Amino acid sequence: MARQTADLVIENIGELVTCAGPADGICGDAIRTLETFTGGALAVTGGVIAAVGTGEEISNGFDARERVDAGGNLVTPGLVDPHSHLVYAGSRHDEWEFKVTGREGGADLQGGIHRSVGWTRAAADDDMRAQALADLDEMAAHGTTTLEAKTGYGLERETELRLLRLTASLEHPIEIIPTFLGAHVPPREFLDDTDAYVDLVIDMLPAAAELAEYCDVCCDPIGFSRDQCRRIGEQAKALGLGIRVHSDQTGDAEGGFLSAELGAASADHADYTTEAGFQAMAAAGTAAILFPGVTYHMMEMVPAFTEGGLAPAEKPFMPEVARRALDAGCVVALSTDYNPGSCPTLSMQATMQTAARLFRLGYAEIWHMSTLNAAASLGRGHDRGSLEPGKRADIVIWRVPEHGMVIHRFGTNLVDTVFIGGEKVVAEGRALA
Ligand code: NIG
Ligand code: FE
Repeated sequence: MARQTADLVIENIGELVTCAGPADGICGDAIRTLETFTGGALAVTGGVIAAVGTGEEISNGFDARERVDAGGNLVTPGLVDPHSHLVYAGSRHDEWEFKVTGREGGADLQGGIHRSVGWTRAAADDDMRAQALADLDEMAAHGTTTLEAKTGYGLERETELRLLRLTASLEHPIEIIPTFLGAHVPPREFLDDTDAYVDLVIDMLPAAAELAEYCDVCCDPIGFSRDQCRRIGEQAKALGLGIRVHSDQTGDAEGGFLSAELGAASADHADYTTEAGFQAMAAAGTAAILFPGVTYHMMEMVPAFTEGGLAPAEKPFMPEVARRALDAGCVVALSTDYNPGSCPTLSMQATMQTAARLFRLGYAEIWHMSTLNAAASLGRGHDRGSLEPGKRADIVIWRVPEHGMVIHRFGTNLVDTVFIGGEKVVAEGRALA
C-alpha cells in the first residue's frame, strides 16, 4: 500500500484506549470491556483520525508533517462533558460552608439558586464572558474537548436569552452545545403561580430555538411537575429542539417517565428515579447522565432556593443510582453538572474519580461513560467520543501510562496534551492562549 501523508502522528503510546463502540452508546455487559492497545500509534489528517494501529503499522503507512512522542504514556479520546451551567455570575462558597458545618446562616446565605439568579441578572456580559472563557480553559486543561452548556440563572426572558447569546459568542476550541433551561426552578416572583412562569417559558421558546440545540426542563420537586414539563417539552420539540431533563434530583417527580414520554436525549441526576422509570428511559433510548460530583458535594443536602432551604434530602447519598440505571439497560454517561451550587467542579477527572468511589463503578465503565456515552447523549456519538478512523481527532495524552491511574490518583491534573480537531490546545497541562 502506498504511504500516506498525515498531518500528525502520535507514537510511542504506552496504552492506547479507544473507547470504541456503537454511535448510540454502550450499555449492558459490553460497557465493562475497554478496547486498549499496548505500544500503539495513531495518525490524524484534516482534523480527523486517519488510522489507529501498532507503532509499526503507523510508521510503515504514514509520513507525518508533525510527530508527537507520547513518551510511553496513556492516550485516550477527549472527555465529553454533557451537562454544565457554564455562564452565570457570583460564587456561593459562603453558603456551602454553613451547609456542611450545619451552622445557622443568615437568610442571605439561604437563597441558593435564587442568589445566583440575582447576581446573573445584574452582571455585565463582558464579566460573564471572561469568566466562562477562563472556565473553558480550565476544562480543556483537565481533558474536556466537548461541552454541553445550559442557561438557567436568568429565569426571565431578557436574561435567559442574553445567556444563550453569550454562550454563542464564546470563541473557544471546546465545542459548546447550547441548551435553553428557562425552566430550571420557578423564579422568586412566580413562586405563588408556577403555571404562569411555565407560560412565560413557552413564550421564550421561539427565540430560544434560534440559539439553542436543546431545551432542558427540571422535572423535580424543586422545579416543575411532570405536566408542566410536558407542556414546555412538547412546544420545544415542535420548534425543533431536542429535549434534556433535570430529573428526580431531590425526589421522585416521575422525571424518568416524562423523559421517556418526550423521547428526551437524556434524563440527568436521576437519584430518585424508580426502576420502572429507568426501564421506560431505556426503552425510549433516553440516556441517564449521572453526577458523582453532586453526590460528593451535596451528600445529604438538597439544592433548595428558599429560606429554610437546608432541608435534608429524603434518602441521602445514593451510590446505587448508577447500578440501577445500568441494570435497566440505559446508556449511562457521567458529567460535572458544573454550576455554582450543587457542583462547582470544572474537572471531568474529578468526576471520574468520585464515580469510582461513590458509585462503585469500574474503570472501563467510567471511561465509556465519560467519552462515547457522553457524546452519544448529545447526539454526537457518530463523530466523536472514541478514537476510531473517521472521527474527530479529539485526543488526550496523559502523564500516566495506564487508564486506571487517571481514576485512582485523585486530586491532581494528570493531563499533559490535548488536541481538539487535530489542533493542540493544551500543552504540559495548560491551555494554550
Ligand atoms: O444540580 N434543579 C437543579 N439543580 C441544580 C443546582 C444548581 C444550583 O444549586 O445552583 C443542578 O443541576
Ligand atoms: Fe444541572
